[in-house]
Amino acid sequence: MNAYDSEVAEGTLRAAGYEVMSEGDAVERKSQKVKGEKRGQAYEQNELLPVPFFAPDIILMNTCSVREHAEERVIGRLGMLGKLKRTNPDLIVGLMGCMVEEHREKLFKRFPVLDLMVGTRNIKQLPNLIEQVIKTRKQVAQIKQDGISIEYTELISRKSKFHAWLPIMTGCNKKCTFCVVPKTRGTEISMPADEVVREAGRLIREGVKWITLLGQNVNSYKGDVCVGAGLKPASTFSELLESLCHLDGDFRISFITSHPHDATEELFRVIAKNPKISRHFHLPLQSGSDQILKRMGRQHTYPEYKRKVDRLRELVPDIAITTDIITGFPGEAEEDYQATVNALKEICFDGAFIFKYSARPETPAAKLKDDVPFAVKNQRNHELLKIQKQMTDDNNQKRIGKVSEVFVEGLNERNPKQVIGCSIHEKKVVFFGDRLLVGAFCFVRFNEIKHETFIGETTK
Ligand code: 5AD
Ligand code: SF4
Repeated sequence: MNAYDSEVAEGTLRAAGYEVMSEGDAVERKSQKVKGEKRGQAYEQNELLPVPFFAPDIILMNTCSVREHAEERVIGRLGMLGKLKRTNPDLIVGLMGCMVEEHREKLFKRFPVLDLMVGTRNIKQLPNLIEQVIKTRKQVAQIKQDGISIEYTELISRKSKFHAWLPIMTGCNKKCTFCVVPKTRGTEISMPADEVVREAGRLIREGVKWITLLGQNVNSYKGDVCVGAGLKPASTFSELLESLCHLDGDFRISFITSHPHDATEELFRVIAKNPKISRHFHLPLQSGSDQILKRMGRQHTYPEYKRKVDRLRELVPDIAITTDIITGFPGEAEEDYQATVNALKEICFDGAFIFKYSARPETPAAKLKDDVPFAVKNQRNHELLKIQKQMTDDNNQKRIGKVSEVFVEGLNERNPKQVIGCSIHEKKVVFFGDRLLVGAFCFVRFNEIKHETFIGETTK
């Protein structure tokens, strides 16, 4: 969702006449000693810069509050920017994203370096806010949950010509006790189905070949409007997917993220019968212990989760399933942790993101005693990563010799005679192929794997 919001921010700023710099641009410009840059450049950053030496007039950070670590990085960066501002007082520093929703105007007091803040539902206001800062040099913010939650816009600077994010819902009505998202993104709002289908059609006509539907819990999508001529009514997520598959053209649809409680048999059946839908399913488990799942407010037990995964694998045998796990949730005893170890081994996921629990302000879990020592969280985290690596390797080995549909994303930088692509299971593969293949789908046999990248060859 943040990646999408950044693309909207960048497109909005470009349309208002701003130039957007990437980290690479900034470094290059410095080495070329470009002088006399006009006011109003924005700087786009994906990673922490070691030293702030670039030359933009505006620095915007899009932030995440899901885990404490992400926030700490932003706070560290704000400290560095404070020093930079002492040498360049005209510099404008802005924040967007979930940290803004979480802490709101309180951040202005704590960080005088901040000039502006924009909420996740108010991104279009960025040019106005910048103008206000330039005119008044006062701290300004637009953080309104009643702003437009999702608004499809052509003012978007997509990172890729071929891939587009497409938000279909935002916010979350679940109440996982560890999670800050219901606070930062608000309650669920879905886009009407006909608008989603229209936007997807527009993207496909524009040359997009792969659309990722976005939502905090796409499975609870409720688009209560019937879709246009010739297409079926769509109100559930499964129905929406079906409608999208009926659109003309060669394209792939994937989606993130799902909740086990709402992932239905109907959805699995839709995936099974539609080859345009990605064979990758991300289904967060969080813990293998029922006791911990209950304390997490997850609304599923491990056996229920396992039954869903088994059914999904029955209906879509080649599906790649990935998950999220939290280690060290309050009260996680050795036996709870062992239950998670067993779950990882039993389910044999294709991949797992494993996070150390961090208490988020004002979440129900923040009231529980954060009683698993950091060293234990850390150790459990490391062990789970190791186990998961083995499981991922086992799964990947099983794919050797098989043929998969691959979307060709670009040339392999290390060997321009090769192209690089992403399989229908969302596995990376390189193979010898003409550059004309870029942006197209083809079938590839997976021959071997090196460092989690498959090496393959095209088949007829
Ligand atoms: N601490 C650690 N991990 C968290 N996640 C969400 N909240 C927290 C937290 N407080 C993880 C969950 C979720 C993923 C996006 O982030 O695993 O699925
Ligand atoms: Fe957070 Fe996901 Fe739970 Fe919603 S379903 S509260 S986004 S972890």
